[in-house]
Amino acid sequence: MISIRNLDFIYQKSKKHAIRNISFDIEKGEIFGFLGPSGAGKTTTQRLIIGLIRGYQGDIMISGKERRQWKKDFFENIGVAFDFPNLYLKLTAKENLELIGSYYKNEKTDIDKLLDEVGLLKDKNVKIEDYSKGMKMRLNFVRSIMHNPDILFFDEPTSGLDPVNAKIIKDKIVKLKEQNKTVFLTTHNMTVAEQLCDRVAFINEGEISAIDTPKNLMIENGRAFIDMTYLVDGIMQNAVFPLSGIESNEKFYDIMKKHQIMTMHTQEATLEDVFIKYTGRNLI
Ligand SMILES: Nc1ncnc2c1ncn2[C@@H]1O[C@H](COP(=O)(O)OP(=O)(O)OP(=O)(O)O)[C@@H](O)[C@H]1O
Ligand SMILES: [Mg+2]
Repeated sequence: MISIRNLDFIYQKSKKHAIRNISFDIEKGEIFGFLGPSGAGKTTTQRLIIGLIRGYQGDIMISGKERRQWKKDFFENIGVAFDFPNLYLKLTAKENLELIGSYYKNEKTDIDKLLDEVGLLKDKNVKIEDYSKGMKMRLNFVRSIMHNPDILFFDEPTSGLDPVNAKIIKDKIVKLKEQNKTVFLTTHNMTVAEQLCDRVAFINEGEISAIDTPKNLMIENGRAFIDMTYLVDGIMQNAVFPLSGIESNEKFYDIMKKHQIMTMHTQEATLEDVFIKYTGRNLI
């Protein structure tokens, strides 16, 4: 669906080399996540694909056609929800959707139904200037899907949402996948990435350092341990063993046989561990 080859981009004004020769593919019906620290180049990549910034090197193929060849009809086929909701503050939610919907030729989804799905139906006649941040985020989300596009771009779709509203948005994203839509999202939230993404790419300083399923990345890079406490002559002792090769770890079996085990936990690798490994930074 989306095929990026040797994409390279420098912001002309600041001469910032934001994207450095990256290549990746996103399949139809896939939820693909871009993960990386602040300033890594996630939004820049999305903006390049969408066409909000130009002047790149390399190829951005979308549905078999280079981005430079796409005309206005491109926007019928994509939906975009970025982290700064761009809505008309003086209009109500319903008026916003009616107006923005009129820009598109595609058949639009019923506005009340959309608002209901994200818990905004009762506030449909409230002006956006009186909306909370989370309400704007949810409205911005439905705004991006109302014209039924095939490819969706979400930049931090759950940032600033409480857990209930974040779940509403995550469920909507899963539904989009079930409808065979292609979703390209960025997030700092490793739980969101793990829950939603079929594959993720780690990007750091404009370069991609790994692409795979969250599960594979965790298996390959994570450190899974068994952490146990046991009693030796009435004194509590602690030992940690790597899970790999545990079946033949004599020290581990020795403790198991000779001492009373008090606690035993496995520590799974997390996507956060993988994030730190590939970006060298802790999440903020
Ligand atoms: N309009 C701009 N002009 C000049 N430089 C920019 C511009 N936008 C972004 N940059 C720079 O390009 C780099 C990548 O920024 P980008 O916004 O793509 O990062 P990001 O991964 O989306 O970060 P965040 O997680 O904070 O959203 C950063 O060094 C940033 O300072
Ligand atoms: Mg960004």
